[in-house]
Amino acid sequence: MKIAFISDVHGNLTSLNEALKQIKNLNADLIYSAGDIVGYGPNPEECVKTFLEHNIRSVFGNHDYAVNHPEMDFRFNAYAKLAVQWTREHLLETSKTYLKSLPMFIEEKNFTVFHGALDKEDPFSYILMPADSEISFKNMKTQIGFFGHSHVAGCFIQRESGIIDYIPGISGCTLNLKENEKYLINVGSVGQPRDGNPAGGFCIFDTDEKSVEIKRYQYDIDKVYDLIVENGLPRFLGERLYSGV
Ligand SMILES: [Fe+2]
Repeated sequence: MKIAFISDVHGNLTSLNEALKQIKNLNADLIYSAGDIVGYGPNPEECVKTFLEHNIRSVFGNHDYAVNHPEMDFRFNAYAKLAVQWTREHLLETSKTYLKSLPMFIEEKNFTVFHGALDKEDPFSYILMPADSEISFKNMKTQIGFFGHSHVAGCFIQRESGIIDYIPGISGCTLNLKENEKYLINVGSVGQPRDGNPAGGFCIFDTDEKSVEIKRYQYDIDKVYDLIVENGLPRFLGERLYSGV
């Protein structure tokens, strides 16, 4: 079985549609999301609808959570705060209710999904380097976990010795899972990549081959930029898409 993992769509419907096209061509059987369906991008309502239409199972991202929790706005930087306030005004009540219903973590038989960290005390902290991943490895009951939040694709590997290594998520490289190791895969971002590569990204887990692959793809950034400007969202949120930051 092939399972696709997407994350950090952030209201970028143009990129989401392209990702779904590619996922369909790869014959993935299921799609999971590591959160942040909305926030930043100009099409939050359409993204929620698309998630429901494609039966994409998602966890909470901090932006999804913030839609129903204005008291948390102080935690965001200026651009993120403007974007979450705009997003709140442009979502139907039914979509807000859907976002409220998302779980913080999903644990299936052979994998786990979360947004920031597998840590009930601090679920929206960042895993940026091996030391940050320790608590998530400790709490994870499955061999492999998929997450997002930093918008940078990459793989944390806990060796049999307990040492944790990091491998950047390079498009097209296949990671073959070994029985005596555990893995935390940052699947990258569909809607706002931040690794200096503006291409959208997602991940394919082949449960039969026991392998993971990061995929990158081009989408129409001009279209998203224009929508961001037309909708009165900060121009910077469109500019950053071109440089992948
Ligand atoms: Fe995000």
